[in-house]
Parts: sequence; C-alpha cells; structure tokens
Amino acid sequence: MPTLAPSIIASDAGRYAACADEALRAGAEWLHVDVMDGHFVPNITIGPDVVRALRPVADEHDAALDVHLMMEAPEQYVEAFADAGADVLTVHVEACPHLHRVAQDIRAAGCKVGVALNPATPLGHLDGILPFVDLVLVMSVNPGFSGQAFIPESTAKVQRVRRRLNALGSEAYVEVDGGVGPDTALELVQAGAEVLVAGSAVFGGANSTEHNLQALREALTLRV
Ligand code: DX5
Ligand code: ZN
Repeated sequence: MPTLAPSIIASDAGRYAACADEALRAGAEWLHVDVMDGHFVPNITIGPDVVRALRPVADEHDAALDVHLMMEAPEQYVEAFADAGADVLTVHVEACPHLHRVAQDIRAAGCKVGVALNPATPLGHLDGILPFVDLVLVMSVNPGFSGQAFIPESTAKVQRVRRRLNALGSEAYVEVDGGVGPDTALELVQAGAEVLVAGSAVFGGANSTEHNLQALREALTLRV
C-alpha cells in the first residue's frame, strides 16, 4: 500500500487543524502542506505558522508533515519550516540554481530532502541531485491550485524516475502530486509511486473525508 498524503490546502481554510485530524483519523499516513508564495506560482497559501499549528495534530497520529515549497529562493525559509516542525522539505528544481546547497541545508536542518519537478521539466534536471535526495516529487499538474486535471503523461514520468532511482540503488520515495484520485491512483502505484498526494479527492465533494479516503484505498486494493 502506498502512503496517502492528503493536501491540506484543499480542505476548509478556517479549519486546517480539524480537517487534518479527520484525515489522519481516517488512516492517512502523511499530511501534505502546500506553501505558495505568489511568485513561483500564481497563488498564496500558508507559511511556517500553519506548519507549527499542524505539528501537534500530526504527532497525535504519528504522521509526517510533508512540506512542499512552491516558492522562489526556498533556501531563505529552510530553517523556519524545519523549526516549525516539517519532516520532509521539498523544493522545486526550477527555483534552485544551487540545488545541492539547498539539499545540504535541508538535511542539516534535520529534515528529509525532497526535490520536485514541474510537468514540463525534463528528468535530466535531476541528474546531479538524485544521490542526495530522500524523495522525488513528480508534479502531475502545473502547481498553484488544487482541483486541476491530472496530466496523463505523468505516469510514464513516475516510472522513469523510479527506474533512475533503482539504477542508483536509491530507496528515495517517488511522490506524485496533482489530480490524483481513485481513477489515477492505481496506475501511479503500478508505475512506482510510493506517496500519493491528494487534495480535492480527499477533502472535496459532498462525501466525508473518511469516505473519500476509503474510496481511494479501495481503488488501490480491489484491482491490485
Ligand atoms: C498543486 C499542489 C497540490 C494540490 C493537490 O499545486 O501542489 O498538492 O493541492 O490538489 P489536487 O489533488 O486537488 O490536485
Ligand atoms: Zn503539493
């Protein structure tokens, strides 16, 4: 079974902690926290204080806080997010000319190192950094908003990332983010994704979070 990481920005912005608690009670293993700066992506979401507020909720369920930094110059905020309680800090290769240094900083701050690729960014951009990462995040939408349609080519990209990691003997996680739901989850796991981020598929629609997570798990179990 893959790790399910509900994306908290798709929940009720006035009740992030309560929504996170609901998702973790319903069996999600990680919480995915989307940080957007209004420059790297055309949206502004949350900062270190929200991560700090979610930390006790995550602790109660032994869950990891998976923080996805969609921002320019993320190196300026590594310490702030680490200090706020992030377990994984993921930066975008497109935003980091000194990616190796940022990776070192993230590790020195005590977090797992993640790197993310936008849909149009080729895998070659990972060549120099793969040996140093704990997680590769394949974006399956253009980052900025929840609720966008999954880009079908992402599945093959997930598979190619997994193969490259295997060839290096790396056990880094492959995570996929954007438009993931019951219709796409299984093919992604079969392609090698180990962490599935889901926003609207978990928190959207008329059904409960518990029901939605159950539907996601069923889509994975019934047909595997
Ligand atoms: C997109 C974010 C995602 C997003 C996922 O920019 O990085 O984490 O919130 O939401 P869905 O699953 O609705 O695409
Ligand atoms: Zn994300």
